[in-house]
Amino acid sequence: MSDKLDGLWAAAKAELDVATTKDAVEAVRVKYTGKKGALSAILGGMGKLAPEERKALGEQANKVKAQLEAALEQAAVRLEEAALEAELAGAKLDVTLPGRHVRLGRRHPVSQTLDDIVATFARLGFDVAQGPEIELDWFNFEALNVPADHPARDMQDTFYVDAQWLAKGVGPTVLRTHTSPVQIRTMLAQKPPVRAVMPGRVYRKDSDQTHTPMFHQVEGLYVDRHVTFAELKGTLDAFAKAFFGAKAKTRFRPSFFPFTEPSAEVDVSCVFCGGKGCRVCKQSGWIEVLGSGLVHPNVLKHASYDPAEVTGFAFGMGIERLTMLRYGIDDLRTMFENDARFLAQF
Ligand code: DAH
Repeated sequence: MSDKLDGLWAAAKAELDVATTKDAVEAVRVKYTGKKGALSAILGGMGKLAPEERKALGEQANKVKAQLEAALEQAAVRLEEAALEAELAGAKLDVTLPGRHVRLGRRHPVSQTLDDIVATFARLGFDVAQGPEIELDWFNFEALNVPADHPARDMQDTFYVDAQWLAKGVGPTVLRTHTSPVQIRTMLAQKPPVRAVMPGRVYRKDSDQTHTPMFHQVEGLYVDRHVTFAELKGTLDAFAKAFFGAKAKTRFRPSFFPFTEPSAEVDVSCVFCGGKGCRVCKQSGWIEVLGSGLVHPNVLKHASYDPAEVTGFAFGMGIERLTMLRYGIDDLRTMFENDARFLAQF
């Protein structure tokens, strides 16, 4: 029986040495150490032996069993290591490959233009002020001297927010149609002098190639003793040269706004043809960029300023329009589609 045990160990060892798969190792385990395996079969015959023989054989059997288990474990480790080796050898790491590119986002062209405009006016001594986008009709129209029958007040043009305003006794609220109401809020909040730009979103019921229901404006306001139209011209000409380049020229055309008197629209020499005349400026050499004027006395009064004491100028411009002119963009709507290919160009 002792010989049988030795033979069993030698056979099992030989089979393990040539096993190349997990399944093969498992088969050896079952064949020799399993419940119905070779070792059990030998031990099953031990009952017929004399006690001394049984003891010696028991010890030998335990030794063989331990050897077998160790050899099985070794074979498993050897196979695992071989599998890892093979995997590493197959998948080569090329440390000379360039790293993966991290794509950075960037500021929206409208934000860039807005920041530029605000920074330019900051250099000219202007503060920044802000007001709410949902605005009382009084600030948006009434205080700005816009008459009750003005077409801009029409339901067709203005987004009215609260239809139950009469019952609540607060007056109607609108999505502000321009940044001009911030003029009134800023003046009511501080004594003259006031010199500030007021950027923000505005809303109108408009949608086509050059209009979107929401767009951005920057309002400007300077009120103090003896503020003149000459200062308005100087300020806006300096702005145009800072924004469009030193060669930019400005032209002031008489116009009308309820909140300014006199009023002027400001043109800048065409940024595309330099003033020679082209398709964009309709051969005129000029492009309209903003509205402006001297603050109407009624507006000063609504803000509790005394028109006999102070005068002021104001202006308002559309950010998207200025962005389009600066970069030669011809469809306003591209600025709100957030197509990464478009935005990456700025
Ligand atoms: N609020 C005007 C608009 O939305 C723009 C404007 C014109 C603002 C003249 C002004 C101004 O302050 O003086 O079209």
